[in-house]
Amino acid sequence: MTTIEDVLSSIRSVPRGRAMPAVAYTHPEMLALERERIYGQEWVCVGRQGTLERPGSYLTADVAESPVLVVRQDDGSIRAFVNVCRHRHTQIVDGVGTVSRFVCPYHAWMYDKDGTLVRAKDLDRVQVPADCSQNVERLPEVRCEVWNGFIFVTLADDTQPVSENLAGLAEILQNYHLDRFDDTIVVHDDVDWAANWKLVFENFVDSYHLDYVHRASIGPSTPSALASRRTVREPHFSAQDNRHSAPVNEDVPAVMNPFVPAEDHDLVVVMGVYPNLVFSIEPDFMWWIAMTPVDAARTSTVWGVSFSSEYKDIPDYESNLKLMRELIQAATAEDKATLVAVQKGVRRNDPDVGYLHEEWEAYVGEFLNYIQRVLAGAPQSSQS
Ligand code: FES
Ligand SMILES: [Fe+2]
Repeated sequence: MTTIEDVLSSIRSVPRGRAMPAVAYTHPEMLALERERIYGQEWVCVGRQGTLERPGSYLTADVAESPVLVVRQDDGSIRAFVNVCRHRHTQIVDGVGTVSRFVCPYHAWMYDKDGTLVRAKDLDRVQVPADCSQNVERLPEVRCEVWNGFIFVTLADDTQPVSENLAGLAEILQNYHLDRFDDTIVVHDDVDWAANWKLVFENFVDSYHLDYVHRASIGPSTPSALASRRTVREPHFSAQDNRHSAPVNEDVPAVMNPFVPAEDHDLVVVMGVYPNLVFSIEPDFMWWIAMTPVDAARTSTVWGVSFSSEYKDIPDYESNLKLMRELIQAATAEDKATLVAVQKGVRRNDPDVGYLHEEWEAYVGEFLNYIQRVLAGAPQSSQS
């Protein structure tokens, strides 16, 4: 019987240029370990700030099996709390929405936007022991940071700020002025990829499959051959360049974003932020996806597309938006179907691992290096 120590040992010993061993996706103890050491320790992306339009707007997330509630405050700030009632452990709210107060579905305890308990229904006459009252008067706060419009939360007290982890990514993004993008499309109900979360992450930093899997959608306009490396062994993220060989949509006029230099008008940068966010940016729009493991073989995602403020001025904006959404959904459906096949394959737990394409799967290799470091205690490799 393969133990979790055997799995970690096999992950640690994967040589450079090879893929993740199958057992890393399937071992019954692997996800618990990932929740403990990755999702329970790292900054995890839970969505975009544009989802939280006004005070009381909220989104929810599952972080290492802790329900988390992220709320826009009256002063415009965004704060996060444990989304569990202080009475008897019930998850208070699900999905996204806007409320003035949060009401627990079980016995109607009511919480303000800042997590304060404002009413314990029919309990005013009950004597609350002094030593316990502090514990129930508010929802515990969760560390939360907004970086370039992405909302990150962490359950750890000592993780260094996202802005420090991603300083190098901020430099890559500075020409785009992402703060001027509108979160036009945000989809929070796209659940159930029938694949392990690591397969989903790897898929989105893999340029090798573009020509084949996406031959009917995005492949022809962003071929594998134009992909090239940008970052080398960054501990928290990766960034890969690609180029458009043709416009995604012939009807959309040339680049509108005034800040992007002409030589970058055809550039697409695909960024992975460990452990659970991948996004790609080009002059006028940014596509993103954040993943959460549901179980070892299922992953839920939230995703969206944000557009430069100038994009709204193009002719037929609404119909172009619809086209863009359909194209992304088509590409996503192609990825989903492919990952079903990968998930079926990894169940064999084949001990042999294949070769990675040195250029187009470079960041699949770097993601493996991240997993090797955080789970298997391997050193950060400086090899590219
Ligand atoms: S569990 Fe929330 S009010 Fe009872
Ligand atoms: Fe894909």
